[in-house]
Amino acid sequence: MATHPDVSSILFTQPQLQIKIEELGKTITKDYSGKSLVCICILKGAFMFFSELIKHIDLPIQIEFMALSSYGNASQSSGNVEILLDLRHDIKDKHILIVDDIIDSGLTITFLKDFMKYRHPASLSICSLLRVKSEVQLDAQIKYIGFEIPKNTFVVGFGLDYAEKYRTLPYIGILKEELYK
Ligand code: IMP
Ligand code: MG
Repeated sequence: MATHPDVSSILFTQPQLQIKIEELGKTITKDYSGKSLVCICILKGAFMFFSELIKHIDLPIQIEFMALSSYGNASQSSGNVEILLDLRHDIKDKHILIVDDIIDSGLTITFLKDFMKYRHPASLSICSLLRVKSEVQLDAQIKYIGFEIPKNTFVVGFGLDYAEKYRTLPYIGILKEELYK
């Protein structure tokens, strides 16, 4: 597939993503061996990553979805996290894996972790496909990370958007700066 004209370069190709996701799935399978797991997809950004990842986790899994919003249509986190879609099932005493697309400032995931704590799961871990390398990031203790990416880049594709565009690209690419600055 040709690179989208709004993408300056491809950071991770589909095969690279596939290999990494298989690895993550195997690690999670090993870590939770003998247990069952509730995997929560954080919509919309994580949907593609999530659907690949759960195919590689060889455990009894319940899948759930939550939707959060912290960006609106901007390219920086506002810190005001809003829950747009919440769980319908009780997660008390269950092992929870939150699956997200990208941790940037860490604000969104830190908020979510605190919020979920009051529901008393047996355990709560986070798996994110990407994490932005940064010294000032909140320490949200992300247990599973696919790739670290340099800061000051805005990435799109494989579920990630800018103003609701580019989510369906099969790779992760860097969005041309002039499109969001
Ligand atoms: P944080 O609160 O700054 O960690 O931002 C987390 C959320 O912002 C992610 O779940 C994404 O939805 C979105 N986000 C952050 N950086 C990017 C990016 O480079 N591309 C697309 N979405 C991003
Ligand atoms: Mg997100």
